[in-house]
Formats: sequence, C-alpha cells, structure tokens
Amino acid sequence: MDIKTIGIVGCGTMGSGIAQTAACTGLDVILADVSDDLLKRAVGGIDKSLTKLIEKGKVQGPKEALLGRIKTTTKIEDLKGVQFAVEAVTEDFEVKKRVLQELDRVLAPEVILASNTSSISITRLGALTKRPGRFMGMHFMNPVPLMTLVELIKGMATTVETFAEVKALAEKMGKVPVEANDYPGFIANRILMPMINEACYALMEGVGTAEAIDTVMKLGMNHPMGPLALADLIGLDVCLFIMEVLHQGMADTKYRPCPLLRKMVDGGFLGRKSGRGFYDYSQAK
Ligand code: CAA
Repeated sequence: MDIKTIGIVGCGTMGSGIAQTAACTGLDVILADVSDDLLKRAVGGIDKSLTKLIEKGKVQGPKEALLGRIKTTTKIEDLKGVQFAVEAVTEDFEVKKRVLQELDRVLAPEVILASNTSSISITRLGALTKRPGRFMGMHFMNPVPLMTLVELIKGMATTVETFAEVKALAEKMGKVPVEANDYPGFIANRILMPMINEACYALMEGVGTAEAIDTVMKLGMNHPMGPLALADLIGLDVCLFIMEVLHQGMADTKYRPCPLLRKMVDGGFLGRKSGRGFYDYSQAK
C-alpha cells in the first residue's frame, strides 16, 4: 500500500515526535488526542523543535509547510482515510486496549495498525484487534526527531508482508529499523531498564551521588547522558512500569524494581515532566 497519510493517536512526547518526523519526510499526518489543549501544546513543542533543527540545517524548511502537514483532531473517526496508523498513548494496558479497539473499528481492514509500546506484548495487543496479521510494534526512541533507531516487533500473528511494509516506512522516515522478537521489553528496554534500575540501587545504597553515577557512565562509557538523567528524560513512572513488565513477564527477581524508584514515583518525582526527578528542572525553560 502506498502510504501518504498516517494517523497517530497520542500527542505526548512520543506521538508528537513521530508526527514531526513523519511530516519532515513528506508524509501527511493526522494527530489525535483527547483534548484540544493537549494538541495545541504538542504542536507548540513540534514548532519549537523544528525551529531548532531548521536553524542547525538538520531539517529543510519552510517550517510552516512542515507544520501544515500535521492536522490535529479529538475525533478518532477522522483517522478513517489514513493508510497507516500508530498508537502512542500512555503505557497502560487498559488505555491501549480501548484506543486500539477504536482504531480497529475505524480503519479500513487492510490498513496496518502499529503500537509504539515500549514493553507490552505485541501478541497480546494484536489479539485485541480483528487484524492481528496487520498489527505490529513500531517502537521509536525519545527524542524521536534525533534518535535513529526504530525497534520493529512482530507478534505471533504478524505477517511477513506487514513487517516488510513497516520496515519500508521506518526507512522512509529516515530511521534504522532493527527487528526484535516479542518478549518482555523487546531488545531496547530489556537492556536499558535494568541498567537504569541498577543506577537507582547504586544511588539508594549510597555507592555514589546521582552526579557521580551519571558522570561515571558518561565519561567512563561514553554514554551521551547518565542513566539517572536519562530516566528523568524518559519519565520515572515509565521506567517503573517497564521494570514491572520485565519482573512479571520474566518471572525473575533479577528484574525487581528498585524501592527508591518506586518511592520517587509515589511522591510524584517523575523526572523532567513533573519538574523534578533525580535532578531539579523547576528553573528550566
Ligand atoms: N528537537 C530538537 N532539538 C532537540 C530536541 C528535540 N526533540 N531534544 C534536544 N534537542 C537539542 C537540544 O536543545 C540541544 O540544542 P542546543 O545545543 O542548541 O542547545 C541539542 O539538541 C543537543 O542537546 P544537548 O546539548 O542537551 O545534549 P546532547 O548533545 O547530549 O544531545 C540527546 C541530546 C540527543 C538527547 C543525547 O543526550 C542522547 O542521545 N541521549 C540519550 C537518549 C536516549 O538514550 N534515548 C533513548 C531513551 S529510551 C526510549 O526512548 C525507549 C523507551 O521505551 C523508554
């Protein structure tokens, strides 16, 4: 199928990053979420990001033309005519279930439906729809406009053709797709989250301060940012959720979430999005 217009449900960090990237590669986008306020904020964020990337020569303007490719809506029915759809709503099984079933009802039967889930079973999500063969995982990395990787995950029922079409779409969007099998956390979070969780244990046990832990990983291992700063970027609630998926799905205590991580989430210290996590962002613009 020739994909010209894609639908995205969820206009948070991931959904708006996917919309921006798609628009920059010449696709038309319909971006849906539950409120106009959220959509307005998302478009504001995309505008800011595009301004920076155009200034740096990393994206070809004009900005207005790129923004003009992104239409927003609060009605999922408006995605009816798209040739591909991806959900990027909150990492909560019940919310994803509702959105996927609504999309399944609205989209033409041959249209591929993908999920940007970071850890929920693709086989389980696909089985909620009437198109498990045309369903798969398309997991972008944050910040989407800057990160090259897309993890592609086949569910048990995903067809070879579906996989090939999504791989071609990821490449068209300038990304490097990597295939992962459908096991908890896929590849990215199977490896990344235990590292972040271990950094939380190191902090909790006083092995080092947050700054020391992050500096060791940045200067000692050449990571672009330390694991605690990265957890703040991802969101500590998301990190905790993924650790729980790994713990439950692998039934192995080596994935037990760090009590400090849980305590911070309980206290609303969610990272950048709440203004405070391992670091303080309350003064950041
Ligand atoms: N759009 C445009 N510009 C952006 C941006 C965005 N979305 N995000 C950051 N930038 C800009 C910054 O504003 C900054 O611009 P200036 O230099 O003009 O101020 C520039 O990019 C560079 O940023 P920084 O100087 O702050 O830092 P950096 O050089 O280290 O680059 C980074 C930033 C690309 C985020 C880099 O730190 C990095 O690669 N970090 C690791 C990110 C990572 O691991 N992502 C995966 C997370 S896991 C995931 O997403 C999956 C999951 O399921 C949880």
